[in-house]
Amino acid sequence: MINKLKLWKKQPQSSNLQERMTLIKEQQIPSHVAIIMDGNGRWAKKRALPRVAGHHEGMKVVRKITKLANELGIQALTLYAFSTENWKRPKLEVDYLMKLPEEFLGSFLPELIEENVKVTMIGEKENLPSHTLKAIEKAMVDTKDNTGLVLNFALNYGSRAEMVSAMKQVMIDCEAGVLDVEEITEETFANYLMTKGLGDPDLLIRTSGEIRLSNFMLWQLAYTEFWFTDVLWPDFAEEHFVQAMEDYQNRQRRFGGV
Ligand code: FPP
Repeated sequence: MINKLKLWKKQPQSSNLQERMTLIKEQQIPSHVAIIMDGNGRWAKKRALPRVAGHHEGMKVVRKITKLANELGIQALTLYAFSTENWKRPKLEVDYLMKLPEEFLGSFLPELIEENVKVTMIGEKENLPSHTLKAIEKAMVDTKDNTGLVLNFALNYGSRAEMVSAMKQVMIDCEAGVLDVEEITEETFANYLMTKGLGDPDLLIRTSGEIRLSNFMLWQLAYTEFWFTDVLWPDFAEEHFVQAMEDYQNRQRRFGGV
């Protein structure tokens, strides 16, 4: 009896979500969604847990949202997992965050492969611990031919550093005669960024009530639609992502036109 009641209570919500997803798929789906996954620390604090417990819970949400994004037919999902500024955090927390890609990919890489997800990364590889880089690079190699969702981790990523490094390379190529100053366009410059070939995000989601960009994809977000929520990342569920999609589909994108 209790089981039946539970089933009856659960059914409407999940079928409602399925229906909403069907409707979303009938309209324009954002090709590229970027997420600033914020609020892990506060989630843990509210439960009197160490901050790293929030990051661990946040990792589970990455799995859920990746599956959903792939199911919806989104082409790319960029997740801000560690910024160039996050090194300022206590060593214990940094070490923990650097272990998460290994743990995540250690458990879910077979699932990602099965679901045709392609793993990529943006950010400076140089300062990453070798165990972190090894896990990411293995995933990138193992999924390189996959044609489904591109799951792009922004790891040790900072937008200003990305632009400075792009600018340096542009100058090197100009001096070498590979590139003519007069021929530099926005498209040329975009090809020097780490996001080359990925396309700009159509939708940016930031959780936890913070309304700022925190040095994330400053060039690429020029015409992106923003969606902010007070929900903390570890509490972010399928229905929140679906809500963001629905809101996106109700927006009118004009790209500066009328
Ligand atoms: C910001 O929340 C979050 C981060 C700096 C880390 C985000 C990482 C994950 C969600 C896990 C990533 C998973 C993989 C697979 C790499 P915060 O700690 O600043 O939260 P607070 O503002 O409440 O303190």
